[in-house]
Amino acid sequence: MAKYSPMKPVIDILEERVSAAMAQCAGGAGAAAMVKPTQEPKFGDYQANGVMGLAKKMRRHPRELAGQVIEKLDVSDMCREPEIAGPGFINFRLKGAWIAAQLTKAMKDEKRLGIDPVGNPPVTVIDYSCPNIAKQMHVGHLRSTIIGDVFARVLEFWYDDPTKIIRQNHIGDWGLQMGMVLRKIIDRYNYDTEKSMDFDDYLNEYFCNISEEDLDASYVEESDLGLGDEKIAKIQREYTLRLQYGETKENKTWKKARSFTLDKCSYIYKQLGVTLTEKDVCGESFYADRLGAVIEDLAAADLLEESQGARCVFLEGFKSKEGEPLPLIVQKSDGAYLYSTTDLAAVRYRVDELKAERLIYVTDARQKLHFEMFFACARRAGWAGDNVLLEHVPFGSVTDPKGRPLKTRAGENVKLKDLLDEAEERAFNIVNQKNPDLPDEQKKKIAHAVGIGAVKYADLSNNLVSDYVFDWDKMLTMEGNTAPYMQYAYARVQSIFRKGGIDEQQLLKVDHAVDPSAPEELALAKLLLRYAEVVETVARDLRPHLLTAYLFDLAQSFSTFYTNCPVLKAETDALRNSRLLLCRHTARTIRHGLGLLGIETIEQM
Ligand code: ARG
Repeated sequence: MAKYSPMKPVIDILEERVSAAMAQCAGGAGAAAMVKPTQEPKFGDYQANGVMGLAKKMRRHPRELAGQVIEKLDVSDMCREPEIAGPGFINFRLKGAWIAAQLTKAMKDEKRLGIDPVGNPPVTVIDYSCPNIAKQMHVGHLRSTIIGDVFARVLEFWYDDPTKIIRQNHIGDWGLQMGMVLRKIIDRYNYDTEKSMDFDDYLNEYFCNISEEDLDASYVEESDLGLGDEKIAKIQREYTLRLQYGETKENKTWKKARSFTLDKCSYIYKQLGVTLTEKDVCGESFYADRLGAVIEDLAAADLLEESQGARCVFLEGFKSKEGEPLPLIVQKSDGAYLYSTTDLAAVRYRVDELKAERLIYVTDARQKLHFEMFFACARRAGWAGDNVLLEHVPFGSVTDPKGRPLKTRAGENVKLKDLLDEAEERAFNIVNQKNPDLPDEQKKKIAHAVGIGAVKYADLSNNLVSDYVFDWDKMLTMEGNTAPYMQYAYARVQSIFRKGGIDEQQLLKVDHAVDPSAPEELALAKLLLRYAEVVETVARDLRPHLLTAYLFDLAQSFSTFYTNCPVLKAETDALRNSRLLLCRHTARTIRHGLGLLGIETIEQM
């Protein structure tokens, strides 16, 4: 029998055991059992599909091979007799006693709910949020922030070693947009009335009197000016260069603009409750003096080519629409470096100095090609070897319910701050309607958890790559796969405990374990056992919607259980305790799962 640590996800235990049995059949060494949860309860709980592939390879009858695998298989401790179904599936039904024993172990593990950490996790850099200085964060940055933060939380839990997770907020603080804003601010000083002022005083006053919208508008205005007038564009580029050479005024202004934008971002991070902090900021400017080496080393490796004055790398497999080879440009004809150059420098830094073995980048899908190309370049140059996993996790855009890009009524881009405030306001109104008698302070706390939770959950419950429809009514409804529904499910269990005056510590001390026997209890217990497997899949494949879908199933299963199985009024004490334990573990699983999604729970709603 394959060895396993007792709290491995069920699916992994079965995968190991069935694979081991297959390996004992001729030609089966190394073949995967491909165990999956079944779609329909009548087929049992789990199903192994791998035998059919092996049978095809070995030119054998699949059902017969399945029979042979079953003969070599020992799962009698956990499952009833496995069954062969259809063309050669093997179906497994878990034993009630085994479920009860596993669940009892999970319940006793206050910290990890019985989920083993993965062994020897890779040092993982997560590149997310990444707003641009002098521009406002937009909804794309909001998605990156929310999604990236979930990856950080999930992996931190799964790895169980915080030192293996490195958050990187790769802010845009070095490019041409800086030159544009500098021109606006410094030219005003040089040519306008303020010239008599001390420059530092001027800067202080300037930044005291503007809003983020003003700074953003300056950038947009300058960008339009530059597009229409080559002379102005040239001056903007000169400002960018002077900044990059460390000229005093430029540097001072840059620092001010940078901390101005970062302050606003911190405010949003705080409101969102994300785990990013100032110390995670490592923006484009950080790589300024590493860009030259990128070019030199590419040249030394004979990978650089000139194309229309620019220096490029041509990589296999990248073609334009016309079928022409597509270059990755790393230096423009005027010597300027690009977004790609910085990203190449960043890969080197992360791999060589941060010792990263897994690099995750969270941006919108429009940047897909950029990532594919610089990943290919980094591999080609040998800066990311085979031991390094490079993952771009793209996400879709945000649209309104009619499928148009999200805009305000006035047709402007939605400001994140306004969006989050509106979420809390709407949630407040709902709480106010449902529970007018709660003290205002408590209403606000609930509104914060529900409002921000709703925005996050709605984002995360979509398949990431699909466009995501931003719909206030849908995300705030109590019915359906939403944050408020999940938060309510949690609060409901808490209220059972309050109503019954249950002492949780006492309950845990009771000797006998949980003992699910009614079909609704069993269904709930099996689902609870699947939590480990879901967390593992989300951590491995970076797909948060699998977690929201699971939590939704769990809450629904709980509802069915609660409707059919009296808890506080159960016939015997033993049954009552067992059911209370099921309730408690459901609540803890929901709270834990929402916690991984960065969503708060509340004791009372
Ligand atoms: N600042 C960029 C933007 O706003 C995102 C940066 C993503 N990270 C990276 N390493 N390229 O689009």
